[in-house]
Amino acid sequence: MTRLPALALLALAACIAASQLPQASLARSPAAPAPVKRGQAFAQAHCSVCHAIADEGFSPNPESPPFAAVVNKPGITRNTLRQFLRDSHNFPAAMNFRVEPARIDDLADYMLTLRTPGYRPPI
Ligand code: HEC
Repeated sequence: MTRLPALALLALAACIAASQLPQASLARSPAAPAPVKRGQAFAQAHCSVCHAIADEGFSPNPESPPFAAVVNKPGITRNTLRQFLRDSHNFPAAMNFRVEPARIDDLADYMLTLRTPGYRPPI
């Protein structure tokens, strides 16, 4: 038997592993689309005091759901997310601020990179 089939199998396994990386790793990669990077920077600057904004971890403010938990809820789409962010000023009270319309799409694009099949919230 030659070693070729084993090598091919290894290469295949590597491809599968890479495709199963959480998409949030994509947001951190230099190849991430510009809106995703802008959304991530904005979230870091304006949301991370309360929310966990990365793909895992607890929120600094325990009443604020981690962004990963928000986007992995059934029924959340880019549109429902944008709608929430547009109307979020003063609901909940802790979020009494307004997100500029230009930033809403970036935020939604970034947050949706946190979607992972089989997501389990940190308990
Ligand atoms: C001062 C703390 C605070 C900051 C800053 C904050 N949030 Fe929140 N956010 C909360 C709290 C508390 C809740 C949960 C309220 C509830 O469940 O009644 C929440 C809820 C949310 C929800 C809804 C979750 C759901 O599924 O109901 C979204 C989406 C959200 N925040 C996005 C953001 C974004 C985007 C930013 C930054 C632009 C941000 N938040 C900044 C405190 C904050």
